[in-house]
Amino acid sequence: MAKYKMILDLDTGIDDALAIAYALAAPECDLIGIVCSYGNLLVDGAVQNSLNLLEMLGHPEVPVFRGLSHSSTTDSFSVMPVSQLIHGKNGIGEVELKQADRQVESMSGVDFFIEAAHKYQGQLLIVPTGPLTNLAAAIKKDPEIVDLIGHVTLMGGALTVPGNVTAVTEANINQDPEAADEVFRSKLPLTMIGLDVTTRTLLTKQDTKKWRDLNTLSGQKYADLTDYYIDAYKVTSPHLGGCALHDPLAVACAVDPSLVQTIYLNMKVDTEGAFRGRTIGDETRINDEARQTQAAVNVDVDRFVSTFMRYLTDLFAKH
Ligand code: BDR
Ligand code: CA
Repeated sequence: MAKYKMILDLDTGIDDALAIAYALAAPECDLIGIVCSYGNLLVDGAVQNSLNLLEMLGHPEVPVFRGLSHSSTTDSFSVMPVSQLIHGKNGIGEVELKQADRQVESMSGVDFFIEAAHKYQGQLLIVPTGPLTNLAAAIKKDPEIVDLIGHVTLMGGALTVPGNVTAVTEANINQDPEAADEVFRSKLPLTMIGLDVTTRTLLTKQDTKKWRDLNTLSGQKYADLTDYYIDAYKVTSPHLGGCALHDPLAVACAVDPSLVQTIYLNMKVDTEGAFRGRTIGDETRINDEARQTQAAVNVDVDRFVSTFMRYLTDLFAKH
C-alpha cells in the first residue's frame, strides 16, 4: 500500500519537536512538509526551530512553510507567559541548535495545504498540533479541499477533562476558537486527540537518559529540551509525574488510529462568553446521521509510549 503523506502544522515548541522526530521515524508515512504557526512562540521562531531540528535529524529535504502570524480575529500575537514557562523563550527549552543552512519556502503554508490536498487527496494526513488558524484559512480559500483531504488528526481540546488554560479550554483551541470552530464544523474527516488522552501518555527523566546515553548530538539535544519540559511540568502539573506527550501522540494516532478509542460526535467550539474555547458536542447537529468528527477518550498508553521510545531512540542513535 502507498505510504501516507503527512503535513505537520506546528507551533514548534518542545512537544512539537518530539512530534517532528516521531513523524520522521514512523515507517508508515512520508513527512512531506511542515507548516508553522504562532502559539508556543512567534511564527518566525517556529519556522527557525523546525528548520534547525530537521537538519539536525538528517532530513534537510523536508520543506518548511510559514503560516499565519496571529489568530483569525486579531491583528497581532504575543506569547502567553505560561507558554514561555513550559517551552522556554526560544520554544525549545533554551537549548541552542546549529542554525540551519536553508531558508523557509516562499509559498505560504495555507497555499501548501491547498496544493497538497489536490495532489495527494485521500493519501494526505494533516496533523495540526498548534492553533487551527492555517487550516481554517485554507478551507476558506479553497472549500473543495474538505472533500479531498484524507484525514485530520489534531492535538487540541478537552472533552472529558478540564482544560489547561481555563477550566474548559485547551491551549491550542484557546489561541483561535473561531478558526477551531470552523474546522470542527466543516466536513473534514477529523479526530481530536485532546487532553483526555494526551495527559495519560507521559515521559520521565529515566526515559530521556536513554537518549543522552546514546552520545549523539540529537540524543543530547532532545534529552536537554525534554528535561526542560519535564521540569516545567513539575511546576504546572505536579500530579502527573512526567511530561505529557501531547503532539507526538497526535502523529502516532494519525498513522495508527487503533492506539485510541474514539467516540463519533458532531462537535463545535464555543466562541462566546464564559465557555469560549470549549470543545463539545454541537447540540444543533447532535442527531445528524453523518458524523465526521471523532474525539479520543481512551489510549493504549503502554503501546504508544514503548513505540515512541523505540522510534525516537533509533532515530537519535543515527544523528
Ligand atoms: C498543546 O499546547 C501547546 O503548548 C503544546 O505544544 C501542545 O500542542 C497542549 O495543550
Ligand atoms: Ca504544539
